Amino acid sequence: MKALVARSYGPVENLTLADVPKPTPGPGHVLVRTEASALNAIDLALITGAVKDHLPIQHPFVPGVDVTGVVEAVGEGVSRFSVGDRILAWNGVPSGGLAEYTLVQDAPSAALRPATLSPAESAGLPTAALTAAALIDEATPRADEKVLVVGASGGVGSFVVQLAKRTGAKVLATARADEEDLLRRLGADATVNYQTSDVTAEALRWAPGGVDVVIDLTHAGPALAGAAAAARPGGRLASPLMGPSAFDRGVTAVYTGTRTPAGRLEALAAQAAEGHLHVEIGARYSFTDALRALADYAHKHLHGKVVITF
Ligand SMILES: NC(=O)c1ccc[n+]([C@@H]2O[C@H](COP(=O)([O-])OP(=O)(O)OC[C@H]3O[C@@H](n4cnc5c(N)ncnc54)[C@H](OP(=O)(O)O)[C@@H]3O)[C@@H](O)[C@H]2O)c1
Repeated sequence: MKALVARSYGPVENLTLADVPKPTPGPGHVLVRTEASALNAIDLALITGAVKDHLPIQHPFVPGVDVTGVVEAVGEGVSRFSVGDRILAWNGVPSGGLAEYTLVQDAPSAALRPATLSPAESAGLPTAALTAAALIDEATPRADEKVLVVGASGGVGSFVVQLAKRTGAKVLATARADEEDLLRRLGADATVNYQTSDVTAEALRWAPGGVDVVIDLTHAGPALAGAAAAARPGGRLASPLMGPSAFDRGVTAVYTGTRTPAGRLEALAAQAAEGHLHVEIGARYSFTDALRALADYAHKHLHGKVVITF
């Protein structure tokens, strides 16, 4: 089968589209004929070796944590899926989604794909929507609160805006000028252009005294202090990156990542299929163009999800 292969740590341009053996599903795994895959920041981090100290990978390595397709074979002990099922999955570090066939674990990180959800939409869901849902779980915005979302135009952010809005909270979203309409369609009550404005100052104008919740998807460590300064005294900050546990004026912080509680991926897929959750696809590529997709994702500004179809 064809797969996008990294033979060592390095820039994404070093990957090649190569022939590799088709995998065989072991116990608890299914073999999926890939229909679509989506790109995430973790793909780049694994490929380049940026996270190799705590998330080492074996080479040759096939990237791709988000995948959807048709079950072609099932391993021993698989109970939730059968041959012919269409599923979507978050593969995590084992990755493998940028290949014609990939192994998927029979676990809450995989779900049956609703019939009305397209392969491209399904591929765009797992990492970004699961992470957004985990952030909302931790930040717990309420109907009477105001939320600032920094990095709202990206994969995770586009879901955070929708899920935050659904709690009844008011949402201020960062966006480039050409993304403001999109963010409003996703549910933002107001937008702030992070390229031309001081986001913290604008947030304090929008919410005098400070917002109740900041969800920051772009900064890490001490750099989070800027966004935290937009929170009211005693407000909350949530991020999928790491940083201090508290900031000035009693602003508390919580850090979380992709989580797969039982039934969560099924629920998100059902919401997307029913039109209650929009999967914003910013760019599509065919598998033969996967190398260009990775390079564009690494170097260009692409909003929403970058999806590769097979
Ligand atoms: N811990 C976990 O398990 C986990 C899981 C998923 C994601 N993450 C992390 O979460 C972050 C977001 O992920 P993602 O998939 O949403 O990434 P993404 O699709 O690349 O989105 C990031 C967005 O932030 C925007 N942005 C960059 N700098 C900004 C700034 N200073 N102010 C406002 N917006 C800014 C980017 O726009 P431009 O293109 O204009 O720069 C882009 O739209 C990544 O760092 C990723 O590593 C962690």
